[in-house]
Amino acid sequence: MSQYYQYDVLIIGSGAAGLTTALTLPSHLRIAVLSKGDLSSGSTYWAQGGVAGVLDDTDTVESHVHDTLIAGAGLCREDAVRFTVENSRSAIDWLIEQGVPFTRNDDTDEDTSHFNYHLTREGGHSHRRIIHAADATGAAIFTTLLERARQRSNIDLIEQQVAVDLITASKIGRQGNECLGAYVLDRETDEVDTYAARFVVLATGGAAKVYLYTSNPDSACGDGIAMAWRAGCSVGNLEFNQFHPTCLYHPQAKNFLITEALRGEGAHLKLPNGERFMTRFDERLELAPRDIVARAIDHEMKRLGIDCVYLDISHKSAAFIQEHFPTVYERCLAFGIDITQQPIPVVPAAHYTCGGVVVDQHGHTDIANLYAIGETSFTGLHGANRMASNSLLECFVYARSAAADISCQVAHVNLPDQLPHWDASLVTDSDEDVIIAHNWDELRRFMWDYVGIVRTNKRLLRAQHRVRLLLSEIDEFYSNYRVSRDLIELRNLALVADLIIRSAMLRKESRGLHYTLDYPELAELAEDTILRPASVDG
Ligand code: FUM
Repeated sequence: MSQYYQYDVLIIGSGAAGLTTALTLPSHLRIAVLSKGDLSSGSTYWAQGGVAGVLDDTDTVESHVHDTLIAGAGLCREDAVRFTVENSRSAIDWLIEQGVPFTRNDDTDEDTSHFNYHLTREGGHSHRRIIHAADATGAAIFTTLLERARQRSNIDLIEQQVAVDLITASKIGRQGNECLGAYVLDRETDEVDTYAARFVVLATGGAAKVYLYTSNPDSACGDGIAMAWRAGCSVGNLEFNQFHPTCLYHPQAKNFLITEALRGEGAHLKLPNGERFMTRFDERLELAPRDIVARAIDHEMKRLGIDCVYLDISHKSAAFIQEHFPTVYERCLAFGIDITQQPIPVVPAAHYTCGGVVVDQHGHTDIANLYAIGETSFTGLHGANRMASNSLLECFVYARSAAADISCQVAHVNLPDQLPHWDASLVTDSDEDVIIAHNWDELRRFMWDYVGIVRTNKRLLRAQHRVRLLLSEIDEFYSNYRVSRDLIELRNLALVADLIIRSAMLRKESRGLHYTLDYPELAELAEDTILRPASVDG
C-alpha cells in the first residue's frame, strides 16, 4: 500500500549539499532528507581533496577569483565566482563549528582561537588554499554533518528512497508551475509513495556514471538533472564533463581516485620510461588545470599505445606520505603498490559534471519552490572547467543560501492540497530485466568512446543516434512495467546523456573540458549552452 507524506522541505540527496541545507534551515520546519541507497552512498563520502577557500593572510579573494576564472576558460559567471569565494570563509567556519576534524598544522595545538589548519594545493590554484582532513575530507565532513542531522528532531533521514519524478502543478493539471513534491520508490516496500512538500531541494549530485570509467560511486546517475528537465527546468553547459587525470589503474580497483593533492604536494606524472611528460604540455606542469592534464595523459597513452601513466611521490619521505595520504597509501598497498617506494599506475576517468540545472544565487530553478544545489546545479561557478575543491565549497555556499531563501519564503507558501497517488494500475512486472542491464552497459560504453575527452562531429552523431534508440526503448519499458531502481537510474542517465550530446553538438569550438577535433580553436565569444525543455514533458 503506497504512503502519503507531508513535509515543509523535501531534500532529495544526503550528501554535503543536502545535509547542509537541512542543518541550516530553521528547526521549526519539518524536513525529509532522502537517500536512494544508504545515507553515505553519494559522492561526498568519497571526496579526498578538500574545500577551497581564502583562509590565510597571504591569500586574497581576488586571487581565488582570478584562478577560478582562468581554470574556467572564459566561461565562468564572475558574479557567481565572487559570491562563492566571498562566502568561502564563513562556510568553512560553519563546518569547523559543526566539528569537522580538518587537519591542523600542529596536531598538538589545543588553541582553536586562531586559524591554524594545514592548507594544501591543487591544480590551477596559485596559493595553498585547500582545507582538508588528511586525504579523506569528504568522509570527515559527511560523518560530522550526518551526526549533527541525527541530533535534530525536525530532520527525518530516510534511506533506500529513489525519487521517480517531481510533482508540479502543471503536471497534475493545476494552475501555476510550482513544484509540489515528488513520487518516490521505497525500495523496502517496492511501492511508489507520494511526498507533498512546500519546497523541494534537488541535491542528487552529478552524472559521471554516464561514462564507462568514473571515479564516482554508483549513485551518480544525474537523477536531479533529469527530473528537473522533465519538470520543465532549463539546464546549462552539460557538455563540460570533467575527467580526473589520476584514477588508480588496477584490474581490481573499481573507481579509486588518487587525489590531486598528491600533485599539490609534489608528485610527478611520468611515462613508463620515467620521463616527466607534462613539461611538454604546460608550464604549470602537474598543477595545470585538470582539462590540460587529462588531455595530456590521454594524448601520451594514445601516442605510445600504453594502458596507463604513472604518478610518483616516492621522492618524499615515507613519514610525510603516510601522514598526508593515509587513505591512498593503504588502498594502494592493498593492491600491492607501496607508494613510498614506487610510482602509481593512473588513468583519467569521468569525475565531475560541471553543468546542470540552471539556478540563481539562491539555488532557485525555473520552477517556483524548486531548488537545485551542488553538482546537480549550474551556478556559473565552474565555467568550462571546474577548479579542484571549488565544488565542495559551492555545495556549502549555495546550500546555506538556499536555506536562507526558503526561510524567507516559507511564510508565503502553503502545503499543497491533496496530491494524486502514483498510478500503477496499467503496469505489470517486467520479465525482461536483461534489457536494462544491457542498455546500461551500451550507454556508458558509447558515451566513453564517442563523447569522452576528445570529441568529433561524427562521434557525437553516432552517440546521438544510439541514445535516441535507447530512450525510446526505455520509454516503452517505463510505460509498461513497474519501476525499479535500475530502470529509474537508466531512464535518468539516458536522458542526461542525450542532453550532454545535444549540448556538445551546439558548441562549435574547443574550450576547457569540451575538446573537438572538428573545431580545435577557441571561439571569440564565450557563451553558455542553455537548453530549455520544449514542453513540461521534456
Ligand atoms: O583530486 C581530488 O582530491 C579531487 C578533488 C576535487 O575533485 O575537487
